[in-house]
Amino acid sequence: MEYLDVIKKRYSVRSYKPDQVEQEKLHIILEAARLAPTAANRQAFKIIVADTNGRKEELKKIYNRDWFVEAPLILGVCAIPGENWVRSDKKNYSDVDAAIVMDHIILTATDLGLGTCWIGAFNLQAARHVLALDDTLEPIAFTPVGYARDTNIKKIRKSLDDLVVYK
Ligand SMILES: Cc1cc2nc3c(=O)[nH]c(=O)nc-3n(C[C@H](O)[C@H](O)[C@H](O)COP(=O)(O)O)c2cc1C
Repeated sequence: MEYLDVIKKRYSVRSYKPDQVEQEKLHIILEAARLAPTAANRQAFKIIVADTNGRKEELKKIYNRDWFVEAPLILGVCAIPGENWVRSDKKNYSDVDAAIVMDHIILTATDLGLGTCWIGAFNLQAARHVLALDDTLEPIAFTPVGYARDTNIKKIRKSLDDLVVYK
């Protein structure tokens, strides 16, 4: 797919078919995540891959929506804030690094015909408990990965005039 078509095609999928995600596709997605740039190339992140088969009720504790566990896979990106680059004024870039990794995951999945949805409104304690994350890891975002059951919903966006400031 052309790069801009991938950007235009991606939307938040909130209904999934149960069809499996091919291993080759998962591998391509994970490879794209691995190649994401990170501040000072610290690569301070872990990608959680959770199979929803047989553990939907448990995984729903992380984000309580039926569609969150409809897809066969949930991917999560965790920062390792103790290892991420920190600017001289103490700003830790862990969220930025993790967001870039997740965007690589999401756009690559789109390119492969798969649906995703950024999830930031998850229950942090439940995520830590269900996924047995140690204290060094901070989950930043999750997404289901699977084949969309719904159709492309129109993008509602501000105009460039509202968003761009020329100085
Ligand atoms: C950082 C981030 C967190 C988000 N968290 C959630 C979420 O918890 N639940 C949800 O349904 N959508 C979530 N979204 C999806 C946004 O609502 C969605 O991207 C936005 O409304 C634009 O729609 P589109 O993705 O279909 O273009 C999140 C998106 C981003 C970028």
